[in-house]
Amino acid sequence: MKKTTWDRNMKLLELKNVSKSFGGLKAVNNVSLQIDPGEFVGIVGPNGSGKTTLFNLISGVFLPDSGQIIFESKDITRLPAFKRAPLGIGRTFQIPRPFNSATVRENIAVGVMFGTRSREVNVEQSMHLAEEIVERIGLGKHREKEAASLTPVEKKLMEIGRALAMKPKLLLMDEAMAGMHPNDIDNMVKFLKMMAETENIAIVAMVEHIMRAVVGMAEKVIVLDQGAKLVDAPTEEALKDPRVVEVYLGHPPEETHAAS
Ligand SMILES: Nc1ncnc2c1ncn2[C@@H]1O[C@H](COP(=O)(O)OP(=O)(O)O)[C@@H](O)[C@H]1O
Ligand SMILES: [Mg+2]
Repeated sequence: MKKTTWDRNMKLLELKNVSKSFGGLKAVNNVSLQIDPGEFVGIVGPNGSGKTTLFNLISGVFLPDSGQIIFESKDITRLPAFKRAPLGIGRTFQIPRPFNSATVRENIAVGVMFGTRSREVNVEQSMHLAEEIVERIGLGKHREKEAASLTPVEKKLMEIGRALAMKPKLLLMDEAMAGMHPNDIDNMVKFLKMMAETENIAIVAMVEHIMRAVVGMAEKVIVLDQGAKLVDAPTEEALKDPRVVEVYLGHPPEETHAAS
């Protein structure tokens, strides 16, 4: 592929003054941000701060009331969701939505078929590519099981696998690691970092109560509060910001310790 200065300077994703209301409630309020290719970004914010809505706007589940969404210099603001995935916008859902009666491998093959390779692969090739991913996410021994039989954590892993199978340029992870054991989170974080680097996937991961995972991986942290962007800074800087401590922890450090 042609590498010009323009290409290198191109932002992967840009949001310009994006807003979305539900009734009178501003779920996402005038948010602007940008994500570079291969960048790892942590999204932090209390419950109801608009994180999932932001992901829904980027992936096309909802259209914004105002503002603009640009992906690889292309205005995708009004593009339907099914046309965004093949461009390279992949995501996991806060509540996994597996095809329950399909096997783990088949579920992941669906990711291949609806992702950036949708025009290149047939079913057989998708199943083959899925096999490799099943192994890499550690579900090898469950590959021929029905998705319905997986534990909640295994379903989350499968969800991550399905998103990676899309071979996205941008991967939005909505509480993808919630409920996992800290050791499994550490392993997943390493794996994702490796994927981000080797496959040049920008990852925007939502992190609630697993600060460790953000610190370990994110180059940048974005904090949302009541739908508005409060902080957008390199991780170390963001973590020193008293507003982050207040919004993220929401209570003094002693209590935090007791509560975790
Ligand atoms: N489909 C919807 N209909 C109505 N209100 C919604 C909908 N989705 C989210 N909201 C509201 O928007 C706000 C932000 O929600 P959400 O984006 O889910 O926050 P987060 O993911 O940060 O917890 C909340 O007040 C929530 O109740
Ligand atoms: Mg949410």
